[in-house]
Amino acid sequence: MLERPRRNRRSAALRNLTRESSVSAANLIQPLFVVDGRNQRQAIESMPGMERLSIDQLLVDVEKLLQLGVSAAALFPRIEEERKDARGSESLRVDGLYPRAIRALKEAYPQLCLFSDVALDPYSSDGHDGLLSADGRILNDETLPLLAEMALVQAQAGADFVSPSDMMDGRVAFIRKALDNQGYTETGILAYTAKYASAFYGPFRNALESAPRSGDKKTYQMDPANRREALREARLDASEGADILMVKPGLPYLDVIRALAESSDLPIAAYNVSGEYAMLRAAGERGWLNYRAAAMETLQCLRRAGADMILTYHAAEAAAWLREEPY
Ligand code: PBG
Repeated sequence: MLERPRRNRRSAALRNLTRESSVSAANLIQPLFVVDGRNQRQAIESMPGMERLSIDQLLVDVEKLLQLGVSAAALFPRIEEERKDARGSESLRVDGLYPRAIRALKEAYPQLCLFSDVALDPYSSDGHDGLLSADGRILNDETLPLLAEMALVQAQAGADFVSPSDMMDGRVAFIRKALDNQGYTETGILAYTAKYASAFYGPFRNALESAPRSGDKKTYQMDPANRREALREARLDASEGADILMVKPGLPYLDVIRALAESSDLPIAAYNVSGEYAMLRAAGERGWLNYRAAAMETLQCLRRAGADMILTYHAAEAAAWLREEPY
């Protein structure tokens, strides 16, 4: 036999040498959920192991993250129902929960790379990412000034990157211009470039009680059947000034990650979303699969597909496992 591929798999040392991609804590971004109050650690039923934290507890968890070598986090707010309205006004309040949390994190840990979320849905009584007309249509251009103002509030609070997750057309350019006009030329934009209308966001919407109150998100989030359309979104976001392009969800969309990684010269992020996390947790709890091995394999495959960085609820635990063995 001329070729014996197994020869290169004979030992762990050899497998480490021939490994084509790797995962490290430095590639990971931990999503975190913040709630109002003090001393709050609220378990999230649909995401075992994840909690909604008040700001004091958030600081505790971020300290641990940094010790584990995870230096990046993406923050999401859980807004009280009575603070929600149709325009998501709470998102623009400079002393609202979210800007306060950003300020506290960046004051305590300036070395943390903090990604803030720009979208209306956590603040909106309609649960949509854009403003709704009386007859239930999403008002794209009317939403843009709100997103830009929200991004400014977050940049002022100290966010390193603002991350528009709303999928309105033209929002990256609109936000970039608003930031630059106010002197925030160093605040980056992580664009949710190819964000699909996915069923895998279910547990996250539970965690934030942010599910749409009517209809669905199919007129703005992408059709899961489409790949070329992601290239179009990538071209637009890049031309509008995005610094990082993201594909979301992760695991069912590896071909899209690969397509963007090959066609763009921008860094690529993948969002390993709540539903992907919940599936592994649930199957692991039942003993149907090895949770740790499946989680690490997921991260490995996202890297192999071309993701430079991964937003993942596994970040903290993966960083701890990585201290024990390389992937
Ligand atoms: C909404 C937003 C969603 C997620 C991040 N930002 C949900 C949605 O679009 O309805 C989902 C993240 C996850 O499922 O982990 N702006």
